[in-house]
Amino acid sequence: MLSNLVKKLFPSRDVLGIDIGNYAVKIVCFTEEKKVLRLRDWGYIPLAIKPDTTPEEKKAIISQEIKTYVKKRGLQARYAAASISGNAVIVRYVKLPKLTKKELDLTIGVEAEPFIPFDIKDVALTYSILNDSLEEGEPKMDTVLVAAKREAVQDKIDMISGAGLDPLVIDVDSFALESLYDLIGPKGETGSVLILNIGQKVTNLSIVAQGVTRVVRDIFIAGSTLDKAIVKALKCTPEAADGFKKTRPLLVGDEDKEAAIESFDRDGIAVSKAASAVLRDLYTEVSRSIDFYLSQGVEHSISKILLSGGLSNMGNITKFLSAEFKVPVEVINPLAFLPEVPKNMPRDVLPSLAVAAGLALRRMKDWE
Ligand SMILES: Nc1ncnc2c1ncn2[C@@H]1O[C@H](COP(=O)(O)OP(=O)(O)OP(=O)(O)O)[C@@H](O)[C@H]1O
Ligand SMILES: [Mg+2]
Repeated sequence: MLSNLVKKLFPSRDVLGIDIGNYAVKIVCFTEEKKVLRLRDWGYIPLAIKPDTTPEEKKAIISQEIKTYVKKRGLQARYAAASISGNAVIVRYVKLPKLTKKELDLTIGVEAEPFIPFDIKDVALTYSILNDSLEEGEPKMDTVLVAAKREAVQDKIDMISGAGLDPLVIDVDSFALESLYDLIGPKGETGSVLILNIGQKVTNLSIVAQGVTRVVRDIFIAGSTLDKAIVKALKCTPEAADGFKKTRPLLVGDEDKEAAIESFDRDGIAVSKAASAVLRDLYTEVSRSIDFYLSQGVEHSISKILLSGGLSNMGNITKFLSAEFKVPVEVINPLAFLPEVPKNMPRDVLPSLAVAAGLALRRMKDWE
């Protein structure tokens, strides 16, 4: 009784990082004890939402899932951080004329409009100035503009509130990954790193140079695109295609292919062929962003690619992508800074937790 009152008066400051994806909800909560971060809890809730579910029903299902999880785990957390990506948000790195903060606050809508492909009335606009620069002798400011569709932000707020939690912040998936990389990446890095978070509907791309994100883009090629290609090639159900992704590796190079032929793994060969074609499309799109980035006269090309998201578990995906991009490719361990990963965590859950971990970290940082 007394302890309940104490909890009410002094709610836990721990924040749940909640990544509500199209495939699964991922939850991470850290707690700080004597300046050391510990993993308080984690959750992975697969969402098998039927195609005929209405958006309102979907929101209610997700809220209920989160609520049930929090209750089941006995979590005292009251606050949550969530994020948006894909069609709901656009991030642009632009040069604006040099203005004072006051001037910019007044004119940001006008300054930003040419860069934002949505109706400016439907978006919540924020910006951050990275640094001053000169363009043809004119003083400019390198600025990051973030335009988020109000409706999408509200949907996330509704889902978090519906679960009985307080939404503290609605972030952007790629910025959550930046917060994570700040912590787990090497210190004082001089090169540029490409992060690809490959989920179900979208791949979040970011390029981080010296700790600052310089390019953010979402590409609509991800797990479900592979599923569709596998369904077509094998004439199977989407559920079966999802399973094939998890059991059949990509066949990279002659040796892998010969081994599959020798073992008469017809399905394996077909899955790899279909998946490889989709991943090559992804490669083409990602290459465009790399070219765009390099065209801005940066000093360092991409030194490394880091993968996260569920699809980074696909067998041989690092080998496949490093052969395409010709740079080293690694899968992120979002809990690399902890002494150990919880023993009960399935191996393929770990890379899916990257956005949720970044969200949970960002809040810890902002509390200080
Ligand atoms: N072990 C595995 N092997 C291969 N693919 C996997 C594995 N585990 C999950 N996936 C795939 O990862 C994808 C889901 O990834 P993730 O959980 O990052 O997506 P999401 O965040 O829910 O989706 P989105 O961000 O697009 O809304 C699915 O396509 C799923 O089939
Ligand atoms: Mg995701």
